[in-house]
Formats: sequence, C-alpha cells, structure tokens
Amino acid sequence: MAKYYITTAIDYVNGNPHLGHAYEKIGADVIARFKRLAGYDAFFLTGTDEHSLNVARQAEAEGLSTQEFCDIMSGRFRNAWDKLNISYDRFIRTTDQDHVATVQDIVRRANERGYIYRGTYSGYYCVSCERFIEKGDLIDGKCPFHPSREPEWVEETNYFFALSEFQEPLLRHIQEHPDFILPAARRNEVVNRIKEGLQDVSVSRSTLTWGVPFPEEIDDSQVVYVWFDALINYLTGAGYTPGTDEFGKWWPADLHYIGKDITWFHCVIWPATLMAAGVPLPETIFGHGFVTFKGAKMSKSEGIVVDPLKVVDSLGADPLRYYLMKVVPHGQDGDFSFEGLAEAYNADLANDLGNLVNRTTAMIKKYFKGQVPSPTGVYGPLDEELKAVEESVAQRAHEMMEELDPTSALSEIWRLITAANKYIEDSAPWVLAREGKRESLATVMLNLVEAIAKGTIMLSPFIPYSSQRIWDILGLQGKPEDIRWDGNLEISSLLPGICVTQTGPLFPRLDMESSDFTKGEFHLAELAKEKKKEGKPGQAGLSAKSPQDSGKGDKKVADLISIDDFAKLDLRVAEVITAERVEGTDKLVRLEIDLGCEKRQIVAGIAQFYKPEELVGKHIVVVANLEPARIRGVESKGMLLAGSTEDRSELAIITVDRPLPKGAKVR
Ligand code: MSP
Repeated sequence: MAKYYITTAIDYVNGNPHLGHAYEKIGADVIARFKRLAGYDAFFLTGTDEHSLNVARQAEAEGLSTQEFCDIMSGRFRNAWDKLNISYDRFIRTTDQDHVATVQDIVRRANERGYIYRGTYSGYYCVSCERFIEKGDLIDGKCPFHPSREPEWVEETNYFFALSEFQEPLLRHIQEHPDFILPAARRNEVVNRIKEGLQDVSVSRSTLTWGVPFPEEIDDSQVVYVWFDALINYLTGAGYTPGTDEFGKWWPADLHYIGKDITWFHCVIWPATLMAAGVPLPETIFGHGFVTFKGAKMSKSEGIVVDPLKVVDSLGADPLRYYLMKVVPHGQDGDFSFEGLAEAYNADLANDLGNLVNRTTAMIKKYFKGQVPSPTGVYGPLDEELKAVEESVAQRAHEMMEELDPTSALSEIWRLITAANKYIEDSAPWVLAREGKRESLATVMLNLVEAIAKGTIMLSPFIPYSSQRIWDILGLQGKPEDIRWDGNLEISSLLPGICVTQTGPLFPRLDMESSDFTKGEFHLAELAKEKKKEGKPGQAGLSAKSPQDSGKGDKKVADLISIDDFAKLDLRVAEVITAERVEGTDKLVRLEIDLGCEKRQIVAGIAQFYKPEELVGKHIVVVANLEPARIRGVESKGMLLAGSTEDRSELAIITVDRPLPKGAKVR
C-alpha cells in the first residue's frame, strides 16, 4: 500500500484557534481522509508551535509560566481539532522531547557540513511574523504584514545559516520538480524572489531562553530561532531517529499543506535546511489561500477573528467543514459570512442532501416496508442516465481530489446529489406505485439508494459525521470510508437485503429570520475588536482579569450568577453507547457517549448507584465544554449531570423525558 504523509502548519499558541487555522486543518483533513479512502496508508501530522517570542510574552501577560501557558493553549487547539473531527495521527508540540532532540541533531548535521557559522546580526524583527525584515521590505518603517505593530531593533551575536549557498540548487530542484510548489502562481512568486538573491539568515537567538538550546558542542547558551525549530517538526513527526540516516517510515512528506503567507519559509528555508543536513526533500508544498471575514484576513494580531467552536456548537462540525471547503476555492482566498453559511446549510445540506435521503427512505418504508428491493432487470433511459452521472462523478471528483482541489470535487459530487433529486421527479415513483408498476418502482428505489450511498462515500472526507449517519440510515454495515474509491466506486454487492430506518431531519432547517446565526450574536469578529480596544491581557483569555473569563464585572449578589455565566456551560443531550466499571475502583464508570456529531469518553462516580448495563441507551445530560481531565488515569472529556442528596446516599442521573436528537443543547 502506497504511503501518504501529509502535514499542516503548526499554529502559534499565543491566541485561541480561529477560523483561518480551522480552514487549514479541515482542508488537510479532507485530503487525508480522501487518500485513505483512495487506498493509501496515510499519516496526518498537525500540532502547535510553542517557542515563539510572542508566546513567551503572552504567557507573562497572563501571569503563567511559559510551559503552563503552552500546555493550556496547545490543549485548546487540540480540543478544537477534535471537535472539528480532524483525523490527525499525531498532534505534535515543539516542546515534545523527541522534537527537541531532532532539532538539535539537524543543526548538528548542518554544522558538520559547514553551513552554520557565528556572526553578528543587526536589523528589524517583526514579533508578529517572528521574522527578520530587511530594510528594503519595510513600508513606512513597518512590517508589510503587520502595520499596526512596530518592528523591534535587534542587535546580537548569533549563528547564521548559509542560505545563500542554496540559490542554484533550489532553483534547479524547483525547475526539475514542477509539483514541488503548488499552485503554480505561488511557485512563480517564490522563484522570482529566489532569483533576486538569497542572503544568509540568523538561526539562533542569544537574548532568549525560551526555545530549543543549540547543541552543546556548538553553543548551548543560544536557542534555535523559532522558524528553524518549527519546520523540523515535519521530520520529528515522520519518526526521524537522531544520529542516524533513519528518516522515519513516512519521510519524505508527500504534502506540506500551509498558508500562502509562509511559503517563503517552506519553499526556501526548509528545503535549503534539508539539503544542508543531507535529508531528502518533500514532494509538494501547497500554499492555500486565506479565509477572509468581510474582506479582511482573519488575524489575531489585527483583532479579526471568528471562533470556529462557536459555529460548531450551534450547527455541528460538518456544516462548517462543508461551507469552508465550498467557499474558499483551490489556492485562492474566500470570504466567510454567517449568512452565507446559513444559506449553504439550508440550500445544500438541508434541502438537497437531507431531503434526498428523507424522501428516499420514506418511499422505501411506504412501498417496500423499509427493505431495499433486489434488482429486477427492468431498466430504462432515466436509470441509465443516473448511472452515467454516478460513474463520471466518481471518476472526475477523484481526479480533482488528486489535484488537491476539494472545492471542485465537492461541486462535482453535488452534481450527483442534484441528479438523484431530479431522478425522483422524472421517474415519479408515486405514479409507478399508483399504476402498480412494482418492478420499475423497485428499480427506482434501488438506484436511489445506490446513488445516495455513492454520494455518501465521496462526501465522507468532507462531512464525516453526517456521512456515517446517512450510511446507518440506509442500513449499510460498517463505515462509508471502509469502501475503496479509486476512481471507480462499486457497491452493488452491499445493497441486497438492507433495511432503511428513518429518523428526524438530518439537517433541521435554520430559520433565517430568527436564528442566532444571522442576527449578529455570532459576529464575534466585532466582539474581538471591542476586546482589543479594552486592551491586554486577555487575547488568550487565561488571566483572572481577562475580559473573556471574568464576564461583566463584579457580581452584585454573591450567590447569583448572570445569564452570561450560565451561557458558558455547554450542556448537551448524549446517548450512552457503552458503560463499564473502571478497574480497581468502587465508584467509577467509564462511559462512551454519542453527542450526535461526536463520540467521547467520560468518567462518572456513579458505580454504587447504577449497573453499567443499566446506563446503556440512556439519554443523559452532559457538560460538553469541561476541560478534559484524567480520573484515576482514565481520560474524561465532559461530565454527566446527576442529582444527589446532601450525604450522597441517593443519586439519580438527569435524563430527558422525551426523545431529542443527540447533541441537542440544554438551556
Ligand atoms: N507557527 C507558524 C507556522 C510554522 S509551520 C512549521 C505560523 N503559525 S500561525 O498560527 O500564524 O498560522 C498557522 C497556519 O494558519 C498558517 O499556515 C497560516 O497561513 C494559517 N492561517 C492563519 N490565518 C489564516 C486565514 N485567515 N486563512 C487561512 N489560513 C490562515 O505561521
């Protein structure tokens, strides 16, 4: 099985994850999931970049040690990606011990080959970019990317990397490997800049202590410059063994999926570093575009941020994943709006897809008691037409995904959803039923199930939770991603004898008039700007004084909380899927719960009151946004609610008294 190693950029932890970060992780996740579906053995790396000056300063502003601060913030990124169903195989942190060892070894290798030397640096440094800016690049004395922040003057003796020696080898490599930098526009930008000439770059800092120490034999009073350190995460993640030429099972990377603002580091500094250290180069670096909000780049330093988790909390992960993949085209920028998201949700997910599934299952229930009929051999032109669309969509969408173009693939897959809806109208099953044409009716139902199942498989990289739900509703076994999609998609052997089920609507329609979504409550970018005006600390929202954490001032009555305080609790209905006693304890039960769009493990101290088997199937209420904790070594991501007497001699779990969809909000 061919391997596929895909990485994202690792995010700075000086602020919370925003929609721009989320877009990148979703894009990479869609590609990783597609590759697995297409039969590759894929490994997906993401994580956090923690040794920046910004991070050290933010930790200080929050009154925490840098490590404590990073632990909390890195946890927030990881939690956000879990909520968005990002299927990473490793979440790397640049403070991980194996990474520290890899960085030191790569510096050592480059030094042994004569590419590291001691020198004096003087020049401007933009703390937001974490990069040295040449004088000619300043605009009115400011960093071109961060005009609101003064660049700092830095003068220190440190270690340089002989980047200038790699000008010709880099140009040659790029020319000989047209897929090395994609899209082509990014490649041209990079090539033109390299041709202007490469200067050696400083790769250590003598005035900082927060970072990976330079190797002892060179000078461990200095730390490695944050970008030099960060890029090497891709090698650590591949399983590189320091001191050897074992670059790990996954190296070279097949795809570094990163934003267009950091192509210079990835397409120039990184390959030159690898050449200097004698390590093979990655296959492709893809510089994606930006998600903008009202036309401006999402940026924590400029105060324009949308919190992806708020969107997930109100709509679920899939609609956000779907919308971002639809609205930000291949390699270009795309504008996010709450109205646009709500419209895409209603028109595409609720109407096109949701209704297709609902109508089909309702008809199979009505005409065939829920059982998908077997092939009858009766086949007409409409049936042929639908089959032809299925085949061409499976082929073309596959090609588009191979070309790293999820947006076009998505619209191609939608061609099948639209064709299936049209097929219902054109073949009018209700007329076939009325006229007693049972065989034709059976063909239509079977064809519809097949079209939906194929669409579901192809959609599974984009909307994994919903795809699984549709798969289950159709009565299919296992998971849509267990099927192989290599351009052809063959599933007819799965269909005989399956029984469909019907539940509530897959995507309940959003009322555009009254929804919180379109009313502005979610216009967090505005809120972020307000906060910025209030001043720091609080970007990360960790200090006791931070506006994000402290609400609206002192409480007037000690025991009363405001509605805003209550709103901080994310209470959800969840179904208990499995329950078992935690070994070696009297009180603890480990529960696997289904929150509709996510499955999780929680631990509860209820073993004296309930047998594990009594809990399975209950619809309980959980605090879904509680920080994860380890209870007796078992991870718990959330807490169930229960009432108990003061002395805890009696206890009853809170359940809902009539069915609600899993994940429904309790307010
Ligand atoms: N820590 C560096 C990357 C080191 S990789 C070895 C960094 N971090 S970042 O937090 O500033 O950005 C992380 C990723 O998010 C980058 O790829 C960046 O381009 C991407 N995005 C940040 N804002 C974005 C948008 N508004 N839209 C899309 N992606 C953008 O750079």
